[in-house]
Amino acid sequence: MITINGKDYDVDVPADMPLLWFIRDRLGIKGTKYGCGMGLCGACTVLIDGKARRSCTMPVAALNGAKITTIEGLSEDANHPLQKAWLEHNVPQCGYCQAGQIMNAAGLLAENSKPTEQEIDNAMQGNICRCGTYQRIKKAIQTAAD
Ligand code: FES
Repeated sequence: MITINGKDYDVDVPADMPLLWFIRDRLGIKGTKYGCGMGLCGACTVLIDGKARRSCTMPVAALNGAKITTIEGLSEDANHPLQKAWLEHNVPQCGYCQAGQIMNAAGLLAENSKPTEQEIDNAMQGNICRCGTYQRIKKAIQTAAD
């Protein structure tokens, strides 16, 4: 049994199925994106027990009892401080990587509510954005942390 966005689910899938595909294909929750499938780009980032993790390389069978949050579950009304800051700074361009960016930032702020610029850079460096929205991402995280 795992909990995703507050709902419990039985994990009756092959042991090696990554969490990403359980979320997207079994549950039809599509905000979490597939980028590389190798833990390298961050597009698939979700919170697992409050920590930012790559869902593409995480076997769902290893997560019995875990609480997972996807972008859909970050807030009930898309009104999380990060989501508001993302809008304020017009962060997305194509948008594909942005759910992963926000979830990674949410993991950072859960651990460190006032990160320095360097700490933001360190935490976010593994989340790739092909449109190069990095400066706006950093500003939005700083705004959300204020
Ligand atoms: Fe998971 Fe790229 S799709 S890190």
